[in-house]
Amino acid sequence: MSKDSPIGIFDSGVGGTSIWKEVHSLLPLEHTIYLADSANAPYGEKSPEEITRLSIKNTEKLLNMGCKLIIVACNTATTNSIQTLRSTYDVPFIGIEPAIKPAALQTKTKSIGILATKGTLSSALFARTSDLYSKDIKVIEVVGKGLVQEIERGNKDSVQVEAMLAELLRPMLDAGIDYLVLGCSHYPYLIPSLKKILPNHVSIIDSGMAVAKQTKLVLQSLDLLTESQQAAPEFFTNADPIILKNLLSETGENLKVSYLNF
Ligand code: SIN
Repeated sequence: MSKDSPIGIFDSGVGGTSIWKEVHSLLPLEHTIYLADSANAPYGEKSPEEITRLSIKNTEKLLNMGCKLIIVACNTATTNSIQTLRSTYDVPFIGIEPAIKPAALQTKTKSIGILATKGTLSSALFARTSDLYSKDIKVIEVVGKGLVQEIERGNKDSVQVEAMLAELLRPMLDAGIDYLVLGCSHYPYLIPSLKKILPNHVSIIDSGMAVAKQTKLVLQSLDLLTESQQAAPEFFTNADPIILKNLLSETGENLKVSYLNF
């Protein structure tokens, strides 16, 4: 492993590309390899043991590709398995957790909403973070049931998804939230639909930029930042590559997406 080795990123599917975009924009010289485990999506309804088994499988694939650092670009995989990954493998891991802290510190209505998967909201790591930052505020947690599946099918901008979101957000709006925390890396793709439903005073927070900044800090501290332009980003999926290709075409870059059996 060297400064020029790739950064590995995995997610239960296509959603973690929202994190990849931030990493690529902050660290454009780095070679990134993205694994979309879409054949096993969604992770959010699986048991912690199964989520950890899949996270190990993805990690080992990225390690076999020579990655110097791994970003777990999936909230469900982070909250359920990052401790196991960190204690099993030698490389640094960056995880993604719902951004409860900034929302809790900035709310004026003392009411925030968190949209995440069942697997994230029921994890011990989430419970600890939520307890820490939500002492004097109301936290309305809602499971985004069905949303990941719709995004994996390429339906992120559909009227059905907008109707699902309107229903899911109702208890949050009734409780007067002024911050909505997106606790799943797929959900930033729903921001255009969310903006149609949320009143203007409700801010949306996601964790993509925080993950990118943390990645840079960790690579800097280990003297592992590359110093010259590396290979172009690579994307692998174990399902039909078309959805991933379509999502990435929104970047305007000509990115390489391939099928891989993993
Ligand atoms: C899922 O696969 O259910 C969601 C992924 C995430 O939590 O980011």
